[in-house]
Amino acid sequence: CGIVGYVGPRSAREVVVEGLRRLEYRGYDSAGVAIVADGRIAAEKKAGKLLNLEMALAENPLPESGTGIGHTRWATHGGPTDSNAHPHLSEDGRVAVVHNGIIENFAELRAELTNEGITFRSETDTEVAAQLLGVELAKGADLAEAMHTVANRLEGAFTLVAADAQTPGRVIAARRNSPLVVGLGEGENFLASDVAAFIEHTREALELGQDSVVEITDHEVKVTDFTGQPAEATRFHVDWDLSAAEKGGFDWFMRKEIYEQPKAVADTLLGRHTDDGALTLDEIRISETELRNIAKIIIIAAGTSFYAGMVAKYAIEHWCRVPCEVELASEFRYRDPIVGPTTLVVAISQSGETADTLMAIRHAREQHARVLAICNTNGSTIPRESDAVIYTHAGPEIGVASTKGFTTQLAACYLLGLYLAQVKGTMYGDEIHAVVKELESLPPLMQQVLDNAQPVLDLAARLVDQPSVLFLGRHVGYPVALEGALKLKEIAYLHAEGFAAGELKHGPIAIIEPGMPVFVVVPPRGRDQLHDKVISNIQEIRARGARPIAIAEADDATVEEFSTTVIRLPKVSTILQPLVAVIPLQLFACELATVLGHDVDQPRNLAKSVTVE
Ligand code: G6P
Repeated sequence: CGIVGYVGPRSAREVVVEGLRRLEYRGYDSAGVAIVADGRIAAEKKAGKLLNLEMALAENPLPESGTGIGHTRWATHGGPTDSNAHPHLSEDGRVAVVHNGIIENFAELRAELTNEGITFRSETDTEVAAQLLGVELAKGADLAEAMHTVANRLEGAFTLVAADAQTPGRVIAARRNSPLVVGLGEGENFLASDVAAFIEHTREALELGQDSVVEITDHEVKVTDFTGQPAEATRFHVDWDLSAAEKGGFDWFMRKEIYEQPKAVADTLLGRHTDDGALTLDEIRISETELRNIAKIIIIAAGTSFYAGMVAKYAIEHWCRVPCEVELASEFRYRDPIVGPTTLVVAISQSGETADTLMAIRHAREQHARVLAICNTNGSTIPRESDAVIYTHAGPEIGVASTKGFTTQLAACYLLGLYLAQVKGTMYGDEIHAVVKELESLPPLMQQVLDNAQPVLDLAARLVDQPSVLFLGRHVGYPVALEGALKLKEIAYLHAEGFAAGELKHGPIAIIEPGMPVFVVVPPRGRDQLHDKVISNIQEIRARGARPIAIAEADDATVEEFSTTVIRLPKVSTILQPLVAVIPLQLFACELATVLGHDVDQPRNLAKSVTVE
C-alpha cells in the first residue's frame, strides 16, 4: 500500500492526492484521503484506482486544510470496497488512520472493542487501530501518547499514519516492519511509504529505525521509540530527479524502464572496478578473511528478483567454486534452513521492502549468517538490516512488472561473483578483467536489441489471440525463460510457463498443441554442448506442431530451419547473455498487454512492493 501524510501551508488534499498518484504503483485497489478542518475530519474514499477518488473529490470537494493523510490500497483483510478503503475513522469521527501491513492480533482486539460497545464499519484490521486511538484520545491522552499506547498493543507489521480532528497542524505515524520515510521541507513536512511521494517538494529525507513513532508539524519532526523515548533517525538526500518518476513521452512506465536499461546497467557497473579490471566493491563491509571462509552462499528473493538470483547461482558457482543455493524468501524463512556463521546470505530486492525477504534475512541473521543485500532503494529496510549492500543504480522503478530492476540486479550479481572470485583467488586477474571488459561492453549491445525491436512488437500483434505461451531455456537461459513467462502472466494475464528446455520431455511436452508459441532462449554457440542441446529441444517441440520462436545470436544459422520466427541478439558469452536475452521477452509482454488493452503499469491483483508476508 502507499501512504502519504502532509502538514504545511499548501492544500493538503492536493499534496496528498499528488503523492498518492506517485505511489499508486504500490497498490491500486482503492484510495482515500482525510484532512483536518474546522475541528473535524473530512474524508473521502473510493474503491478502484485513484481516478475514482479524484472524481469523487471533484464532485464533493473537501474543505481546504494544511493537514492531511492519504492511502492507496493493496487489499489484505477485506475486499476492495468503498467501506474497506482507508482512511478509517474512530467511532466518534475524531481520528483518521491509514495503514499498511497486517495487524495479526486484530480479531482479538476487535472482539475486545466490540465488547466495550464500539461498532465497526469495515472488515479491515486497520479499523481496530483507528478505534483504539479513538479510545485513548477520548481518555484524554494526546496524539503521541495515544499512538505509543496503540503501537505497543499491535502485533504484526504496520505503518500507521493518523490525524486528530482536535490537533490540527499535526500528523503522527508509527512503523514496525513496514516502510515509512519522512520528507523534510521548508515550513512543511511529509510522511510517505517512499520518497517518490514527495520528491517534487523536497529531496531531503529521514529514514526511521524499527519501531519508531514520528510526529510532524510544519516546522518540527519528532522521532521516538514505542516507549516514547527520543530515537535515532538518519538523514539522507534523494538524488533521483522528478523526471525519473515521470513517463517522459512513453505510453507506460514499464516501456520507459525497458528502454532505460542500457543506462541503468552502465550506472550500476560504474566505479566498481579499476581500469585493469580489479573489483572495488568498497561497500561490502565484510572482511576479505571472512569472505574467504564462506562455505556456502544462499540467495533469497521473491518474484523477478528470484530469477536474477537463479542466474547469479550459475555465475557464482562457476567463478567462485562455492556451493550456492537460491531459494524463494517465503520458503526459506519457515523451513528451518541450515545457516550459520560461514553462510553468506544474499538478499536481492528491488524495493528493499518485500516482507518475505525481510523476514528471511532476519531469520538468517538470528542464525549468525552474514547478510548482503542487492537493492535499488536507498533508505529501505532490507539494506538497513543487512551487513553489507550493493546498490543497483536503476533509478526509481515505477512499472509494477520489474525490468530495469532485473537487469541491474544481474549486473550487481555478476560484480559480486567476480569480487568473490577475486577474494577467493578462484580466477586469475586477467580472467576477471576479461569478464569485466565484456560486462562494460554490454550496455551498447542492450541498446542494439532495443533499436531492433520491431520484429518482437510485430510478433505481439500476431500472437494476440493465443491462450497460452511457453518459454524454454537451459543454463542461465532457464531463469530468463521463467522471467519471460512471469512478465506475460503479470501484465498480459496469459497462461505462460517457463521450463528448463531439457526437462520438457519429462512431462510438460504433453501440453504442446499444434500452433502453440514457444519462445526458446538459445545459448551462444561455444565449446560446450549447450547450444546443440537446445537445438535438439527445439526440434522436439517442432515435431509436435509447436511454433518455436528462437531468441538467438545474430549469426546463428542453425536455428532458422527449425523456428517459425527468429529474434536476433548480439554476440555475448553464455553467462552474460541474460542481460540481452531478457529484453525481447520484456518488450513482447509489454506490447502484448498494450494490444490487449490492459493497464501495463498497474496490472490487476499485483503491487510493486508487497510489504506483507
Ligand atoms: C512483487 C512485485 C514483483 C517483484 C517482487 C519482489 O511481487 O510485483 O514484480 O519482483 O515483489 O520485489 P523486490 O522489491 O523484493 O525485488
